[in-house]
This record gives sequence, C-alpha cells and structure tokens, in this order.
Amino acid sequence: MKMNLKDTHNRTHNYLRISLTDKCNLRCSYCMPHENMQFTPTAQQMNATELLAITRHFVEAGVDKIRLTGGEPLVRKDIDVILKGLAQLPVRLAMTTNAVTLHKHFNLLEETGCTRLNISLDTLNKKRFFEITRRNNFEQVLANILEAKKRGFEIKVNTVLIKGTNDDEVLSLLKFFAKEEIPLRFIEFMPFKDNKWDMSKMVSEEEILEQVYHEYGKAKTETLAVADHATAREYKLPKAKVSFGVISSVTNPFCGSCNRLRLTSDGKLKNCLFSNNEADLLKLFRAGETITPAVNLLVAKKHAVRAGMVSAELFENKDTHQQNRSMVRIGG
Ligand code: 5AD
Ligand code: SF4
Repeated sequence: MKMNLKDTHNRTHNYLRISLTDKCNLRCSYCMPHENMQFTPTAQQMNATELLAITRHFVEAGVDKIRLTGGEPLVRKDIDVILKGLAQLPVRLAMTTNAVTLHKHFNLLEETGCTRLNISLDTLNKKRFFEITRRNNFEQVLANILEAKKRGFEIKVNTVLIKGTNDDEVLSLLKFFAKEEIPLRFIEFMPFKDNKWDMSKMVSEEEILEQVYHEYGKAKTETLAVADHATAREYKLPKAKVSFGVISSVTNPFCGSCNRLRLTSDGKLKNCLFSNNEADLLKLFRAGETITPAVNLLVAKKHAVRAGMVSAELFENKDTHQQNRSMVRIGG
C-alpha cells in the first residue's frame, strides 16, 4: 500500500507541522491551561530517531515543507540532532518559536537551513508581556527578533489579539514592525481545550481592518492577492516595504486550500487543528507495524472545513473544543 496524502476534497498535503514538545518556557493563557497542565512524559514522546523515521515516510509520500512547533520547539534538548537529521531530507524547513532562547540557536538554525521563522509576540509593552506570558523575557525576545532580521532570517511576527488585553496595540504593532520591515500577522483568538475562549474576546479581521482604515484610509491600504495555500489575507500600509496579514480562522477560514497535516510530540497525526480524531502513529511504529493505512484513513476522513464545524454556531460551541487538545499540545 502506498501512502496517499490526497483527501476526498482534492487537497494534496505536502506540508507537515511537527510538534517537538508540549513544554514551553512561557505560559500564554490562550495557549496553555493555567491549571492541571499535564506535560507528556518523555517516554511517550517521539525520540529523535522515531521522529526522523516517521517523517521520512511522509517525505517519500510528497511532503516537502516541514514546520517545527511546540510548545516551544527550542526547549527540546536534542533539537540539534532533530534539525541535523531533517536537514538531510529534501524539504523546506521552518519553525514557529517564541524566540526566548533564539540567541542560543542562531548558528544551528543557519547551519541546518531552518531559516524561516514565525515568532510569537503579542505586545510591545514589557509589563503586559509579563501579564500575558507570566515570564519576563520581553527584552530578550525583541532583541532576538531584530537580530534574526539582521542575520537574514525570513521572519514573520505572529500576534494573537484578545479584547481588553492587547487590542489597543493594533496600530502600534503595525507601525513598529512596518518600520523594521518585518511582516506582522494578527491571528484571531481560537478556541481550544481549557483556554477560556469566548467569542466576545476575539478581535475579528473586520475589527482589525476598521482600525487600520480609520488611521490610513481604505483607499490607501492595499489588499494583496491571496497566495496559494495562504493562511493569511495580506494587506499593505501606505509606503510600507512589507505587508501585514490577518489569519481569520474564526470569522473567515481558509480551509479550501489547506495542505497541512500535524504530528504531535507523542506521535499522533491530526488532519486539522480543530479535530480530535487522531491516528497513533508512534504506537504502530513502536510495534513494528506500517503506519500507512492509519495515515491514509485519517487523510481520507479530513472534513472540508474546520473538522466539520462549518457554521459559526457549531464552531462557537465551547464543549466541542473541550474534546480537543490544548494549543500547547497541538503546536500551532
Ligand atoms: N488562538 C490563536 N492563536 C494561538 N496561538 C496559540 N494559541 C492560540 C489561540 N488560542 C498561536 C501562538 C503562536 C502560534 C503557535 O499559535 O501565538 O504564534
Ligand atoms: Fe508557549 Fe507559544 Fe503557547 Fe505561548 S503560545 S505558551 S509561547 S507555545
């Protein structure tokens, strides 16, 4: 049997996102549950050898882009072994990181060609950074973002906006990163297990654009053409050298061109961020069995839109998301 990464909606999956760990050196409330956070024991996690072997099957079946996520991927002690192994494969490597320890890893990332980085930052205010993340790493993170840019990494900054927390920073963040020529992307706050999501806390793409248009004028704000498999709609401020984007998974999902599959750190395959349907590839692998039938079945079961939550009503039902993992255990 051949591994088939094409689903019943004619979407080909060439992009694998691998969560390396559910541990993190920050504690963003929208991502990691405050109470009873159970980290996966190391023995239940894919070790580097298992991770590379499982990944190789996907690459043979057509995956040519891999993004490493977490938790925070750079807290994995064997990150060097993993990156050096992945660098041998014919794939484009990328990483989503909070940049807290990026300064210790620049050389490794450069050597292994993992030079596309999405960096999370939700505020330009040090005190607020602490309120959101429960850690005091604001200055280091900002310095690392600027250093990554200087070194020629292809970076984007991701910001999750939450009402009453940081929604007053839309324009200041845009101005700051436009000046630094770093593309910024706002992500609509999404519901996951135990993240206290509520529709009323979400800042929508429409609301973000309202603020932008009020400041710059709609006619002067350019709307860019949507790229293939894009997750963000892209805009450009007047005279800016880089675009900014909005990832509107809540109000305007982009599932039609989805090319992504996710592998969790405990070796389970997910066909969608919002699906609790998982295939335990690590268990099969450890039993010496082929993972192919389980992969094919999960890909075939992929829904057209957000794990079947087509309407806003279905999506806004918090009980549904309680059945899923928390974001820190999925990996963005
Ligand atoms: N909604 C939207 N984005 C989230 N992220 C984490 N949790 C959520 C959520 N509930 C983002 C992080 C990071 C990426 C991994 O996902 O900010 O940029
Ligand atoms: Fe850590 Fe990223 Fe989750 Fe924040 S959003 S807790 S930085 S994994």
